[in-house]
Amino acid sequence: MAEKILVIGACGQVGTELVENLQNIYGAANVVASDIRKSDNPVFQNGSFEMLNVLDKTQIAEVFGKYKPTIVYHLAALLSATAEANPKLGWELNMDGTFNIFDACLEYGVKRIFWPSSIAVFGPTTPAVLTPQSTILEPNTVYGITKLAGERYCEYYYNRYGLDVRSIRYPGLIGWKSLPGGGTTDYAVDIFHQALKTKSYTSFLDESTTLPMMHMEDAVRATLEITDAPAEKIKLRSSYNISGTSFNPEELAAEIRKHIPDFTLDYAIDHRQKIASSWPDSIDDAQARADWGWQEKYNLENLVINMLDNLGGLSLTE
Ligand code: SER
Repeated sequence: MAEKILVIGACGQVGTELVENLQNIYGAANVVASDIRKSDNPVFQNGSFEMLNVLDKTQIAEVFGKYKPTIVYHLAALLSATAEANPKLGWELNMDGTFNIFDACLEYGVKRIFWPSSIAVFGPTTPAVLTPQSTILEPNTVYGITKLAGERYCEYYYNRYGLDVRSIRYPGLIGWKSLPGGGTTDYAVDIFHQALKTKSYTSFLDESTTLPMMHMEDAVRATLEITDAPAEKIKLRSSYNISGTSFNPEELAAEIRKHIPDFTLDYAIDHRQKIASSWPDSIDDAQARADWGWQEKYNLENLVINMLDNLGGLSLTE
């Protein structure tokens, strides 16, 4: 039977690129994008689009009943900074939304579901360097708390109901096709846009804040690879650590300066610093590599070249 794919939260940073990739793999007619809001991105003019609020069970039943998806990517969530601004909504959307979608997947016999976790599950007591897969998990942000609880429920739904959920802990994601919305790692995308526009950037994280990061192309590939892997390879039913690269604002600026020599970076630290300071510097992803063959393509050097190139910059400076 041909697969029917439903992407929930499709208009966000990950969804936009994932939908494009899925359309190429499965054909646009087999990919349904859904979100609480519409996006102007041309990718959504191909295939079907449905307005979907994950807190509205009637709407969920309508969409699942209409399309009978076989694979679901449930990406709808409030990210770290947005959830801190509205903690109750953060809990509700991230948890109740997840229960509603997991329950619908069971009811409609969905074969596989992808649910993203985050490095936000880690907290100030977690070992920060090469953070192990299994370690102290004491997040102190609403987003991190919901992602940790969500991971536990991924495993629970698998063990108790046989729901085939697959999950990875995304690091900060950096891509040129879509913009992030409300995260703590957003600076690492914005910096490229500003570097090309004004040759300067004001960072809201301090110079020594090293965080795990990943190019969006790697993140989308990881998402597709784990979702398509044979079930027996997915030995962890909570969520896998995956690693791309790690850097702080100063290291990123130095790499950008190789292409835009007069680029300047200054700092105006805000509330997001506290969130970033509670997260690890780098991630040990040995288990993802061993179980389903994870391998990143981008390091800091080629990530910067790719971003500047695609955002139009290298041609201006060369
Ligand atoms: N990029 C996310 C955030 O900053 C982390 O999962 O909230």
